[in-house]
Amino acid sequence: METNLQKRRENKKSLRVKVISLGNAEVGKSCIIKRYCEKRFVSKYLATIGIDYGVTKVQVRDREMKVNIFDMAGHPFFYEVRNEFYKDSQGVILVYDVGLKESFDALDSWLGEMKQEMGSHANMESIVFVVCANKVDLTKRRVIDESEGRLWAESRGFHYFETSAQSGEGIGEMFQAFFSSIADMCENGGRRPASGVSAGFTREQADTIRRIRSSKDSWDMLGVKPGATRDEVNKAYRKLAVLLHPDKCVAPGSEDAFKAVVNARTSLLKSIK
Ligand code: GTP
Ligand code: MG
Repeated sequence: METNLQKRRENKKSLRVKVISLGNAEVGKSCIIKRYCEKRFVSKYLATIGIDYGVTKVQVRDREMKVNIFDMAGHPFFYEVRNEFYKDSQGVILVYDVGLKESFDALDSWLGEMKQEMGSHANMESIVFVVCANKVDLTKRRVIDESEGRLWAESRGFHYFETSAQSGEGIGEMFQAFFSSIADMCENGGRRPASGVSAGFTREQADTIRRIRSSKDSWDMLGVKPGATRDEVNKAYRKLAVLLHPDKCVAPGSEDAFKAVVNARTSLLKSIK
């Protein structure tokens, strides 16, 4: 009797979840999973053909979790195979290579493909996302810095981790946070808990920092037309300063963006008579 009761309790506690990996070809999706599951790294590139499937058991607090991992091929050629596998995922590992800007820029289209395949009824709030800024061991070729990646991830309520499948850096922490958030979500009736990844900054702040970083000159940075008056420059400056002031904004990169805005205003006011 007691063993049955014990078994029932254990069954109640165990969870089955499905996670998928997404990102451009060659960014390191398979290696990240291999590093975690098999504790090894393969330096030769072996492209995933369509999908690789594996199961792993993990312990999250008092629960056993059986995780079904669908490791997707990043090559566009495999779209037809991939699109079958998006449905019913509780977790997504989004990966880019910190040395390849196009792999970072592609994250939006990966989310787009996923949304399209899951259909309009799909609820993205019921999925835990983790972003891996991978290959951080290759420091010399790095082009996307931490604040840029973190801003993209956290402004969407996604986790962000710097990882290296080669050295193992960040891999254990990333999976631990990922599985723990999935367990929290299951306990929270299938909704991503609001406290899960609380960014502490708004989407407007994140978008503004991104816009400032990619602006081509001081006019563009303040969002005013070339030849604008002192009043217009000051007005635009005040709006940005309120949004990005380091005392009020904790978004990654906000301090640099604020300084850039101050400098842009100073140089524009000098040039306006
Ligand atoms: P597809 O299956 O084609 O979508 O690629 P993938 O994203 O699964 O890439 P994969 O894991 O096969 O790795 C691609 C290449 O990058 C391989 O040569 C790996 O050895 C290398 N690689 C992966 N992660 C790292 C890393 O963190 N650091 C370094 N230096 N190389 C890595
Ligand atoms: Mg692969």
